[in-house]
Amino acid sequence: MRPGLFLCLAFTIALAFADSDDAARRGEALFRDRQDGMYPSCADCHSLLPEVEEEKAEQRGPGATLWGAAVREGWRNMNTFKDVGEASQKCAKAWQKREKGLDGAQRGDLVAFLRKHAPAGPLPKRQVQRQPKLAKDLAGGDPEEGKRLAATWCMSCHNEAEDALSFPFEPGKRKRDQVARKVRGYDAKNAFKPEEGSMGYYTNDRLPDDVLKHILAYVAK
Ligand code: HEC
Ligand code: HEC
Repeated sequence: MRPGLFLCLAFTIALAFADSDDAARRGEALFRDRQDGMYPSCADCHSLLPEVEEEKAEQRGPGATLWGAAVREGWRNMNTFKDVGEASQKCAKAWQKREKGLDGAQRGDLVAFLRKHAPAGPLPKRQVQRQPKLAKDLAGGDPEEGKRLAATWCMSCHNEAEDALSFPFEPGKRKRDQVARKVRGYDAKNAFKPEEGSMGYYTNDRLPDDVLKHILAYVAK
């Protein structure tokens, strides 16, 4: 290869790397950006840790970890989206209430950032969704403990704030089965309907039955 051509090539490659670094940096700022009184940041709901480490670090939030999100072929209840940029757009509109959503450049930056958090090897398999256990299997539970746990799992959306993303709970109003089904993504007839409504669902690998049990004791009658 002629030295001139080689230099030119090396320069182009260096530029491309610098570009993707810059994009990832902008993406990280966007990920952490919280507009006071307007919307929660992506980081308020999603961690970037492998699932097994989230709990230890007390970093579990309402949304799944986005570690590996950029290399997944499909997402929990978002299999209709073709890539992580589209899934992010849904959150930007639904949860962050950004009226126009993210523009193309912002989505590109977020994807570049999330790619940096993708593992090199294959992702661990996710557990298959399971029929929800209903009230009789989830009896008992401590309402005080449930209140504490609901703060992590539910209250970022179900709170009293004027611009809250959903209604505040009135403890004791709903039946246990109804709440259990909703949390697991099932409808009243016990059919798996994750696309129904706008609330995501929690599989038992993220929100185990013995956590749900306490939450039911607090939220339901
Ligand atoms: C108010 C909380 C909230 C905010 C803010 C939020 N999300 Fe989400 N996100 C969710 C929930 C809930 C789901 C669906 C359930 C799940 O994946 O656990 C979800 C799902 C996703 C998914 C699919 C993940 C998967 O593996 O299933 C991606 C990707 C995503 N969000 C990206 C983003 C990005 C990027 C932002 C910021 C622009 C953002 N989200 C802001 C709550 C939120
Ligand atoms: C990311 C936001 C978000 C989180 C986190 C969240 N919810 Fe919801 N929830 C919603 C929205 C929005 C609705 C109303 C629309 C719908 O039904 O999907 C809702 C509706 C509900 C309903 C009413 C459904 C019905 O048919 O009566 C129940 C019960 C409920 N949520 C329980 C919970 C519990 C329990 C948790 C925590 C384990 C939780 N939610 C976490 C957003 C959320």
